[in-house]
Amino acid sequence: MDQIAIIGGTPLQGEIPIGGAKNSALKLMAAGLLTDEPLILTNMPRLADTRFLGELLRRLGAEVVESAGPAGAQTRLHTPEITSAYAPYDKVRQMRASFNVLGPLIARTGHAKVSLPGGCAIGARPVDLHLSSLQALGAHIDLHEGYVYAQAPRGLKGGRIEFPFSSVGATEHAMLAAVLARGDTELIGAACEPEMVDLADCLNAMGAKVTGAGTPTIQISGVARLTGATHAVIPDRIEMGTYAMAVAMAGGAVRLTNARADLIGALLTKLEEAGVAVERHGDGATIRRDGRRLTAVEISTDPYPGFPTDLQAQFMALMTLADGVSVVRETIFENRFMHVPELARLGADITVSGGEAQVRGVDQLEGAQVMATDLRASVSLVIAALAARGETLVNRVYHLDRGFERLEEKLSACGAQVRRIKGGGEGEE
Ligand code: UD1
Repeated sequence: MDQIAIIGGTPLQGEIPIGGAKNSALKLMAAGLLTDEPLILTNMPRLADTRFLGELLRRLGAEVVESAGPAGAQTRLHTPEITSAYAPYDKVRQMRASFNVLGPLIARTGHAKVSLPGGCAIGARPVDLHLSSLQALGAHIDLHEGYVYAQAPRGLKGGRIEFPFSSVGATEHAMLAAVLARGDTELIGAACEPEMVDLADCLNAMGAKVTGAGTPTIQISGVARLTGATHAVIPDRIEMGTYAMAVAMAGGAVRLTNARADLIGALLTKLEEAGVAVERHGDGATIRRDGRRLTAVEISTDPYPGFPTDLQAQFMALMTLADGVSVVRETIFENRFMHVPELARLGADITVSGGEAQVRGVDQLEGAQVMATDLRASVSLVIAALAARGETLVNRVYHLDRGFERLEEKLSACGAQVRRIKGGGEGEE
């Protein structure tokens, strides 16, 4: 298994291009199952997760072709017919977003058998809201031996779906299923993340009738069939936020391009409060920190437009060297502090109590061997390592590869001392 070795202490200078949003791309790929015509997705990230979902889609009957297009990497999905409506355990266990094929499979074929998901170990992460949404659209659902068996032999029908709290995945799943349902659907209490808007834009380009995406109420008028389309994936706000914090940690000045600063307003405001200079541009932002120490600030994760849970670990890493005590509250997932013991190995002073972490800034971190535990936690270790004295070795970087494209290349191009050690480190459990 690969390791990443980082020698801290070099300020970052230059430019980092931001890729298409992983979380959006995965749901857009699932949308490819909804039509027998080609769906072309541009600005696609090339990640372990997108490759992995591509394999599952092929198994279901899709032709998935990756190529270099005029607007960056693109993926052409073409599913003339669904040849199998079965998503097995080994394909869904490794990545939770695979579960989102369930809705499109029922919508297109009237039945499906899909394994219950796994994904990052950041809490229980049930799928009850996904299933109740599909039931509200008329699907008959049975659970046996870890599988969802769904039936809607006469097709799905529109319905009213009220979410008791915001769920990104369930809102997307409901949209993916309702676009081909007979009649109208209303989603109340829908997630408002930018990925909802991206999915709705793509579905509408395919001939769907979705309005209100990005607000808590989404209306969908079902259509009989969808067509092919070409759609550009929105920039990855989590990747952008992560590099913004890498610069804030290491110091220096980096322009983040092909990105949208408006999608991470909550983070940029906190960075400014902490003493980081942020210059917003039409295609991203320049992040700058001189030698001065940052001030500790508090954050609480929340659904969009609040502070994203996917940036919490990185922000905590940043606060380990700030002046004062920072409180980091996690309100979305109940077990998302697995990076804390690893940050402590680098010398961070953090105490966790329930969903709250107190981070007491220290003067210096020191390089050590650490272990990536989930996708966002692993990149928080990279950020901490950029400012640590000496060398940090991050093990289990397959977590990083799931969500960060060419991470070591992008950081090295800005002067960071980062390299990948192929096949180094411990074996897989
Ligand atoms: C998505 C993102 C993930 C991000 C999260 C919150 C993808 C691939 N992943 O995950 O990176 O951290 O949004 O922004 O897009 N819940 C239930 N029942 C359900 C569904 C969710 O109880 O049926 C709970 C979850 O356990 C969690 C909360 O709802 O506590 C929010 O989860 P949700 O917004 O659904 O996250 P995901 O879609 O899994």
